[in-house]
Amino acid sequence: MKKSASKLSSWPTLDPENWSDLRAQAHVMLDDMLDHLEHVRARPVWQPIPDAVRKSVREPSPRNATALENVYRDFKGTILPYATGNTHPGFMGWVHGGGTPVGMLAEMLAAGLNANLGGRDHMPIEIERQIGEWAREWFGFPKGASGLFVTGTSMANLMAVLIARAEALSERVRGQGLVESNIQLCAYTSVAAHGCIARAMDFAGIGSDWLRLVPTDTLGRMDVAALDALVRDDRKAGRLPFLVVGTVGAVDTGAIDNLTVLARICGKEELWFHIDGAFGALAAWSEQLKPRLAGIEQADSIGFDFHKWGQVPYDAGFLLVRDGEKHHDTFAAPAAYLRRETRGLAAGSPWPTDFGPDLSRGFRALKTWFTLKTYGTYQLGRMIEQSCMLARHLEARVRAEPKLELLSPAQLNIVCFRYRCEDADRINAEIVADLHEQGRVAPSSTTIGGKLAIRACFVNHRTEPADVDALVHEVLEAGALRTLIAPVAPQLVAIGA
Ligand SMILES: Cc1ncc(COP(=O)(O)O)c(C=O)c1O
Repeated sequence: MKKSASKLSSWPTLDPENWSDLRAQAHVMLDDMLDHLEHVRARPVWQPIPDAVRKSVREPSPRNATALENVYRDFKGTILPYATGNTHPGFMGWVHGGGTPVGMLAEMLAAGLNANLGGRDHMPIEIERQIGEWAREWFGFPKGASGLFVTGTSMANLMAVLIARAEALSERVRGQGLVESNIQLCAYTSVAAHGCIARAMDFAGIGSDWLRLVPTDTLGRMDVAALDALVRDDRKAGRLPFLVVGTVGAVDTGAIDNLTVLARICGKEELWFHIDGAFGALAAWSEQLKPRLAGIEQADSIGFDFHKWGQVPYDAGFLLVRDGEKHHDTFAAPAAYLRRETRGLAAGSPWPTDFGPDLSRGFRALKTWFTLKTYGTYQLGRMIEQSCMLARHLEARVRAEPKLELLSPAQLNIVCFRYRCEDADRINAEIVADLHEQGRVAPSSTTIGGKLAIRACFVNHRTEPADVDALVHEVLEAGALRTLIAPVAPQLVAIGA
């Protein structure tokens, strides 16, 4: 056995016996992945997984070792070609960021460090704290605000509900639970809000039924008069309103609630004002779009994702809280084995684990730090503006096509529309699946005003106007084809069978 220079003995470890071989393989993997990103446009956005490929990974738990090059060969054959496709410029579904090669490299560095950001005194935590400071500045929060990386905005929203719950019932709720207080809490958000807020109410033990879904105006923004009335009704009925969740960038339409008015109502009614800014909050990086977020600086907390418009590779959600003490007091819990010191590795209190549910935490901050420093918020903001331009281009194309019906205009980076035909809900769902299988563009679907809609959401910095044109072209083609295929009458099927 050839001993590595850094090894003291022949004591077995998982490090390679031959670092030169590993290095050569590592360079192949890195080059391949850079090639993959450089030529992303040449491949389909997505392709169906052949049965044989799906089955090929169903194998017994590996007891014995396999050479890295063989495992990598499996990755190239079975995983790489059949991923979600959100790095591809034709990806326009859901709300997925495109990632960057810089983010990929930073992920490699973070994995090399293998830092645990739950706590202790080390530089990776300082990087996370610094990003919290930057976020505080982007959103005009005061000193004393706190921030934490989380998986995504679903988690950030859940944590905000927990902080607001402790604010309403005092921190005793952490020990006593909800029954002891004998108070029914109520929260408010718009009908257009993301479903993770109802789930957060469920997970927080308050119950999703106590999330009041406030109607929206014609632009999909929360109707503030209706909010006022619902709060009043709940108070009259002896319940305790405690939280309003405003949305910056509604998932179906990109609508932005009137944050200034929501802040005023929350101030008057003493309600926690949380903002779900999953993708929309980072519009603060654009000088052009920032004025539309007016009022965000008055929120008590904001949840948002760097992995969406921030183009940081998954996952990189963030929660920012105006009052860091309230944030801390909702999650911190002493434990002898997590004892803090004033010097040594156990210094640096408070630790990130004091601000959230996770003790083991990866170095999400590094890929975010690299992305922010390498590109700068100005350029990232321009990418955000570009996404909104693409949405306006699509809206214009849809308006100009008699066969297409516009269901939701470009308020930010999202447009919903559909192919005009009979049985339009079914046909448009088929069109979306057809497009996915063809692999040129991949929108998603939703329901707007009871109608099934093709939903195009522009987040990926690689998407160009030609991709939008391809979407229109493909929808028209698939629609024409689908409406030509006459349904087969059931009795004919029976005779044939
Ligand atoms: C408005 C909004 N809120 C919350 C979420 C959930 O975010 P995540 O998927 O990062 O948990 C999304 C996801 O698209 C969203 O668009």
